[in-house]
Amino acid sequence: MDFPADLPTRVARARHVIFFTGAGVSAESGIPTFRDAQSGLWSRFDAAELATPEAFARDPALVWGWYEWRRMKVLTARPNAAHEAIAALAADCRVSVVTQNVDDLHERAGSKVCAHLHGHLNRPRCIDCGSPARHPAGIPAVVEDGARIPPPTCMKCGGMVRPGVVWFGESLPPADWQAAMEAIGSADLLFSVGTSSLVWPAAEIPVWAAQHGACVVQVNPQPTALDEIAAYNLHGAAGCVLPALLMAARTA
Ligand code: OAD
Ligand code: ZN
Repeated sequence: MDFPADLPTRVARARHVIFFTGAGVSAESGIPTFRDAQSGLWSRFDAAELATPEAFARDPALVWGWYEWRRMKVLTARPNAAHEAIAALAADCRVSVVTQNVDDLHERAGSKVCAHLHGHLNRPRCIDCGSPARHPAGIPAVVEDGARIPPPTCMKCGGMVRPGVVWFGESLPPADWQAAMEAIGSADLLFSVGTSSLVWPAAEIPVWAAQHGACVVQVNPQPTALDEIAAYNLHGAAGCVLPALLMAARTA
């Protein structure tokens, strides 16, 4: 794979690299993205019916069942070559993974994730008292279209348990946001990988990193809103581009 001549050296010299990732980094693990035509979740499901506090209040079993279906997909998936390449780079320099994804594929590849900006499928909590809750052990037996599963109840107060993800209209977890801001303060290179760069405030992160002097490299098969800001746009699948580039950096 060919890269711009100076890019492998820039990667090799970086001291602190942020990987800002979106659904596309998990696509090659078989986890659907949100906005890809045909396969994207938001082309098949209505976000207003499934990913808002109002939707959960209206029909908790529909919403809980849909997140159980997504959790089941992640449980049966494996990290791909992109997650693995990102994890491996941490042996060479400081790496901060800032993800919009609610899966744990970065962690299972060996990365310590600095920020889960949109929460996590594995961190359900009580809607009333906020206590963390647990999923039943094992892989939920749910199917794609419309498995209604009543949410569990809180062990402490009996309240309803909700998925630990950020819904439309909700704020981002402050500690994760803070961690991402701190990472921007010292990063000299940021990879934006597999995100449409459409959802704010997360989409501001690469822009701020560029303003802060970091070199921004985008990895995405499609053009995005970030193309104009990124110093390098690598059009390809993350599972091909990242291992090849990080290998080239090792010998640069
Ligand atoms: P999107 O579905 O909006 O964008 C996925 C991006 O990944 C697209 O730009 C694709 O071109 C790209 N892509 C697809 N396959 C790829 C591959 N193999 N390698 C690299 N890139 C690939 O997903 P996000 O940008 O993550 O929010 O969406 C942002 C947020 O919108 C999500 O976190 C979610 C959603 O609504 C919440 O749930 C709050
Ligand atoms: Zn409770």
